[in-house]
Amino acid sequence: MSFIDTELHRPIKYRTGKALDIKSISVEFDGFKALTDVTVGVKRNSIHFFIGPNGAGKTTLLDIICAKTKPTSGTVHFYPEEGYEILLTGMKEYAIANAGVGRKFQVPSVFTELSVYDNMVLSLSGNKRIWSSIFRKVTPKENDIIADVLDKVGLTSHANEKAGSLSHGQKQWLEIGMQLAARPKIIMLDEPAAGMGKPETFRTGELLKRIKDICTVIVVEHDMEFVKQVADTVTVLHEGMVLTEGNIDDVLANETVQKVYLGRGGE
Ligand SMILES: Nc1ncnc2c1ncn2[C@@H]1O[C@H](COP(=O)(O)OP(=O)(O)OP(=O)(O)O)[C@@H](O)[C@H]1O
Ligand SMILES: [Mg+2]
Repeated sequence: MSFIDTELHRPIKYRTGKALDIKSISVEFDGFKALTDVTVGVKRNSIHFFIGPNGAGKTTLLDIICAKTKPTSGTVHFYPEEGYEILLTGMKEYAIANAGVGRKFQVPSVFTELSVYDNMVLSLSGNKRIWSSIFRKVTPKENDIIADVLDKVGLTSHANEKAGSLSHGQKQWLEIGMQLAARPKIIMLDEPAAGMGKPETFRTGELLKRIKDICTVIVVEHDMEFVKQVADTVTVLHEGMVLTEGNIDDVLANETVQKVYLGRGGE
């Protein structure tokens, strides 16, 4: 999706090097402060983790970025490419997705009776009506995209199998693939390794490293081994605020992080 929608894309002269700028975001739910003055920049083509104890506000922050939740104050700017910015705050969820910000939720939602390939075809289609999507003609260019994505998520040899016969991990990878087929500029993953054993978790990490060339990856995850394996930048949230940010070594060395997070069983 590298067309320029002039209504959305505001040309800017300065270089940001960023994919996303979250500025002073606060959210209140009936007086409860879920996020307070959160400011974070996400570098383009990086793997950026949000970690923190349960209830820290990680999922809420992803909800803000994709407009599932409206902030009480603050802004989110998206830089689909260098030289352009889009103010996401105030936009509708579908418009944000169309602008190139993809979101994978925790529970896999693949069509189990369809093949891996047909699931990919469905995800290409803006029109989500299943039958018209499956029986439409797939262009050679779309086929190339599907082949490329299946290769990236390691499912090429499973293309003709029913999605329902895949392992839990493979279903998660298929769903990441379905997001990638829409060619997002940012993909957001909430606990992508949840429910996976060590080998599958490791392979998920390697998968994320392969896709960061084509899009910026934002991940929420509890598994610290996984964070160590792939994170470029880690932001630690605690009680709705940014506790610290840096590379994984800086973050792990931070005493407050050790106290409030690692000491409290953040596996
Ligand atoms: N719609 C809502 N209404 C009221 N409170 C909410 C709502 N959504 C989230 N919260 C509260 O905001 C806080 C942050 O929740 P959030 O789901 O963002 O945490 P999290 O960091 O993703 O936690 P976990 O690691 O358990 O997934 C929690 O205390 C939660 O109960
Ligand atoms: Mg969460």
